[in-house]
Amino acid sequence: MNEIYEELIENLLEKGFGSVDNWFTHVEIQNLREELLNRYQNDDFKVAGIGNQLEFQLAKSIRNDEILWLYRDRTVEVEKCFFQKLDGCKDYLNRTCFAGINETEFHYAVYNPGSFYKRHVDRFQNDDRRRFSMVLYLTDNWQDGDGGELMIYKPDTEVKIQPKAGTVVFFDSALEHEVLVSRTERLSLTGWMKTL
Ligand code: OGA
Ligand code: MN
Repeated sequence: MNEIYEELIENLLEKGFGSVDNWFTHVEIQNLREELLNRYQNDDFKVAGIGNQLEFQLAKSIRNDEILWLYRDRTVEVEKCFFQKLDGCKDYLNRTCFAGINETEFHYAVYNPGSFYKRHVDRFQNDDRRRFSMVLYLTDNWQDGDGGELMIYKPDTEVKIQPKAGTVVFFDSALEHEVLVSRTERLSLTGWMKTL
């Protein structure tokens, strides 16, 4: 496990982002996808926002994915396994880089065909505790042309990441990024590592 964390973290610190595709097993990905879809069919998801009610229309022109927050005291087995691995990575980050991460938050996300999330940063104007953003993609059988790629914008370059099931990407929450229009049902587990 440590080699995976090392690869991820080395890239994260060096370039501001890093990705791996061998952290979670096929079975774990499949179980997480099934859990997400169960909860989605149960109508547990809400259209994601960016602020209060007045801002709702504005929000829909910026993002139109649907999300469901995860709570650690209400998890099923495969989510416990996810949190265990994630915490392993967080502890490793704190031990080796003194990252000072003491809080995490995660939600499932569904981007139906036509959905997107325009260019933005993950830090709020009045709350800059989000240090690293993480996405674990769960889309079954993503293909070229399906859209929904993650763009990460750096001052000198831009990077396009394919949202293939099993890929995990970490990036500095201060970096601008965007989810391009998806043409399939794009599924993910997204979260943040936060400092005090
Ligand atoms: C977000 C976000 C990226 C992705 O939810 O803030 O930028 O690839 N997600 O899903
Ligand atoms: Mn974001």
